[in-house]
Amino acid sequence: MTRLTEAVVKSTSLPVTVKTRLGWDDLSKNIEEVAERLQDVGIRALTIHGRTRSQLYKGEADWTLIAKVKENPRIHIPIFGNGDIDSPEKARLYRDRYGVDGIMIGRAAIGYPWIFNEIKHFLATGEHLAPPTIEQRIGAIRDHLLRSVEWKGPVVGILEMRRHYTNYLKGFPHIKEFRNQLVQKATVEEIEDVLRQVQNRYTGFVPVRIAAGFSAGQLEDCAY
Ligand SMILES: Cc1cc2nc3c(=O)[nH]c(=O)nc-3n(C[C@H](O)[C@H](O)[C@H](O)COP(=O)(O)O)c2cc1C
Repeated sequence: MTRLTEAVVKSTSLPVTVKTRLGWDDLSKNIEEVAERLQDVGIRALTIHGRTRSQLYKGEADWTLIAKVKENPRIHIPIFGNGDIDSPEKARLYRDRYGVDGIMIGRAAIGYPWIFNEIKHFLATGEHLAPPTIEQRIGAIRDHLLRSVEWKGPVVGILEMRRHYTNYLKGFPHIKEFRNQLVQKATVEEIEDVLRQVQNRYTGFVPVRIAAGFSAGQLEDCAY
């Protein structure tokens, strides 16, 4: 890992950063040594996900080792913490408790890109931003859909989009019926038509904030 990173650092004038986990498994949580060695070969920042490779997404992320890396007097690069942050309150609590220079967010941003602004605003003011309106959510879905189709083509673009509707529309009552329609449509025009119906149905409704959720199967093979 150190050799590979050193080769990357040497091959570019751009700043190189690393994101990694605590270690391979419970018996090899070597992030403290890894952090020093990566800093020594010239990385400019390090993000640590508080789980091991073998853990995949099981259990809770352990931020205590991330804090230890941050507290190491030899470490001078920024240390970012990662794992399980899904609300402004948790972001503030973990930043204060573990002293990290920044936080990275994965799952909580899927279908809810507003999380970043919400957290920034809460850290700056201690107050909550208003949640996104149905218009904003539909706007984000539309944008995502069009870019997905542009990037992957009409068939795969529309198929891949199907897993995202639930997250974008989480918290709206009886949304399942619309979601079932969305995942059955095969053209952008048909999907846009359902989206218009969703917008009309829920205009003015403010859903309860529910943190992003995933079925275990969705992340089974994801080991970053
Ligand atoms: C769909 C998906 C794709 C991911 N892709 C990457 C990746 O390319 N590189 C990486 O370091 N981590 C990747 N991750 C892991 C996240 O960056 C993060 O470490 C992990 O999800 C834990 O943070 P969270 O609790 O905020 O989700 C991915 C996670 C998900 C759910």
